[in-house]
Amino acid sequence: MSQLPAPSPEALAHSARLQAEIHRAIVQQGGWLPFANFMEMLLYAPGLGYYTAGARKFGSAGDFVTAPEMTPLFGQALARQVAQIMALSAPRVLEVGAGSGRLAADLLLALERLGQLPERYAILDLSADLRQRQQQTLADAAPHLLARVEWLDHLPDEFSGVVLANELLDALPAHLVRWDGEEIRECGVVGDAAGGFMWNERAAGGSLLAAAREIADSCDLEPGYLSEISLAARAWAAEWGHRLQRGALLLIDYGFPRHEYYHPQRSAGTLMCHYRHHAHGDPFYLPGLQDVTVHVDFTAIIAAAHAAGLDLLGYASQGQFLLNCGMLDLLAEITRDTPDYVRAASAVGKLLMPHEMGELFKVMAIGRGIDGGLSGFAEGDQSRRL
Ligand SMILES: C[S@@+](CC[C@H](N)C(=O)[O-])C[C@H]1O[C@@H](n2cnc3c(N)ncnc32)[C@H](O)[C@@H]1O
Repeated sequence: MSQLPAPSPEALAHSARLQAEIHRAIVQQGGWLPFANFMEMLLYAPGLGYYTAGARKFGSAGDFVTAPEMTPLFGQALARQVAQIMALSAPRVLEVGAGSGRLAADLLLALERLGQLPERYAILDLSADLRQRQQQTLADAAPHLLARVEWLDHLPDEFSGVVLANELLDALPAHLVRWDGEEIRECGVVGDAAGGFMWNERAAGGSLLAAAREIADSCDLEPGYLSEISLAARAWAAEWGHRLQRGALLLIDYGFPRHEYYHPQRSAGTLMCHYRHHAHGDPFYLPGLQDVTVHVDFTAIIAAAHAAGLDLLGYASQGQFLLNCGMLDLLAEITRDTPDYVRAASAVGKLLMPHEMGELFKVMAIGRGIDGGLSGFAEGDQSRRL
């Protein structure tokens, strides 16, 4: 880790505070914290977690770049799919995990140009710090549309329209599991003698064990195979079974269908940390100063949603989905040989190319009461692979 940029003294002090808080939680839990609880504290401990404190996070000055931060064309392409779903359900959008608010601004401006503004654009984000950033972004970029935007404190009991989540599911706390032949172990975190953290395993139980057994039954896992199971992501998708009346969830994230997720070659899992544009696999490094994520098992997401009474409406690679939404036409509308065009073309390349974000990222639409095919999945729908 010595090659990573050194944090400021204030950042180190912040990290030490979170570390102390996690140590207290470990003691309170009897000396052992499931990794999912550890990850939740790293990201969302009130006032201290990576997302709940004031770190820069997104963009070139932060730790990672998400699609909406790369180009407004992402939101513009997405707007076409959002408009179609609204026309088939209700003129409302709810964005969950809205980050800097960039996607909300781009989407609203694009929907305005299409003449299909939603009556309400709701945002739900766990982070009070990001909520402020979202308000600022929208006030700067689309002040005339701000009145349509509202911030929620929890998921609505009933909703019709489009629920949008870009890179939300990968940021939900996941459990870590080791399959050792007949035995299934859960990985947890304990304190070490130097005041840091170390791994410790115990037998998995309850719903985690049931989920791990199901995966073992359908995948070829060598003894010692280590990976993640996100019960939180499954539960989040299932929540919509009783909340979504008519409409669709559009979930965009990096991940795979189950047989690729739990592939023999991915025997150390997908846990990834991001610190100032460096990716590594050590979640104990600088608690609170780095993002910690896992890839999404899209088979588990649709299975949970399906069990809750929702339908799969489409599943495609991000590249294919954005092409179906006319991203290249949108690029062609920018005057060639201008700095704007060069910037946009480079971002579009990254979003579409299979070896960049085009293939690793997927788009899944899950819904209820939507008749007719969705335009974003018109070509290259891979639902059969789930
Ligand atoms: C990786 S960021 C993605 C942000 C943004 N969508 C983007 O693409 O730039 C994850 C976002 O989800 C939010 N978040 C995480 N868990 C959440 C939850 N359970 N409910 C609402 N927001 C959540 C975080 O605060 C953060 O804004």
